[in-house]
Amino acid sequence: VTVDAVLQHVSRPDLRQRFLAARADPALAVIEGFHALKHALRFAAQVELAVTDDAAVLRRLAERLAPDLVPAIAALALEIPPDLFAALAPRPTATGVLAVARRPAVDVAALFAAPAARPLVLLQRPSDLGNVGAVVRVAAAAGAAGVVTMGHHDPWHPTALRGGAGLQFALPVARLDTLPPLARPLVALHPDGEPLAGIPLPQDAVLAFGSERRGLDADLLDRADLRMAIPMRPGVSSLNLATAVAIALYVGWPSAGA
Ligand SMILES: C[S@@+](CC[C@H](N)C(=O)[O-])C[C@H]1O[C@@H](n2cnc3c(N)ncnc32)[C@H](O)[C@@H]1O
Repeated sequence: VTVDAVLQHVSRPDLRQRFLAARADPALAVIEGFHALKHALRFAAQVELAVTDDAAVLRRLAERLAPDLVPAIAALALEIPPDLFAALAPRPTATGVLAVARRPAVDVAALFAAPAARPLVLLQRPSDLGNVGAVVRVAAAAGAAGVVTMGHHDPWHPTALRGGAGLQFALPVARLDTLPPLARPLVALHPDGEPLAGIPLPQDAVLAFGSERRGLDADLLDRADLRMAIPMRPGVSSLNLATAVAIALYVGWPSAGA
């Protein structure tokens, strides 16, 4: 698709407006970069619009990194002038592609209510969107039932989507304000718990992790059926949030990733 052809159908102000509106729309997600778009497409995202500043470069990237998606990306991505492309994202996008996709609907209450032989990851007030993305990425890789965050950060924020390489589209990911009734056992990951190694976790557990600075709140710790710790050498106070999630999933759940 040529620049001229695109701009006949979508004017510059229209494109700017569509990306601006998408950033503020909780039904939409703004995808910044090739890897996030790659996973979005692999996991059947409804991509409404994709733009690139260089269709030939994008095609070569797809041929190298996602040959399965070359036709889909070529058909989808509209080439637009570099100055317009640069105006659509607050930060430069190294891999030259931006997109808008519809977020899949998530029934959050059902995630907590449904008994399932896969753990659900719960993050209490995470403060770093890169960490949230890294958690989504490992949860998707491990085959977790979903990732639910509490607190003001949106796990579908473009920065979290970058950190998650777009794997938000691979499993249910949602934010909520208050914890609903749980039909699954609640396991709190906390440095003062029982050592994680050697104790199999309930396969349908909600695995709860605290915020980077404050850890888990007392109310959630009190509600937990189990408190588990990842052993650390004396003097080390805690692990990075996403690292703790990765260890808990892969150590506590033998079939993770299978
Ligand atoms: C960066 S840590 C929070 C550190 C915080 N200053 C605290 O005192 O808890 C973020 C979360 O990762 C999990 N975590 C980190 N290290 C852990 C460990 N060794 N064992 C269990 N959970 C851990 C906990 O859920 C923790 O709330």
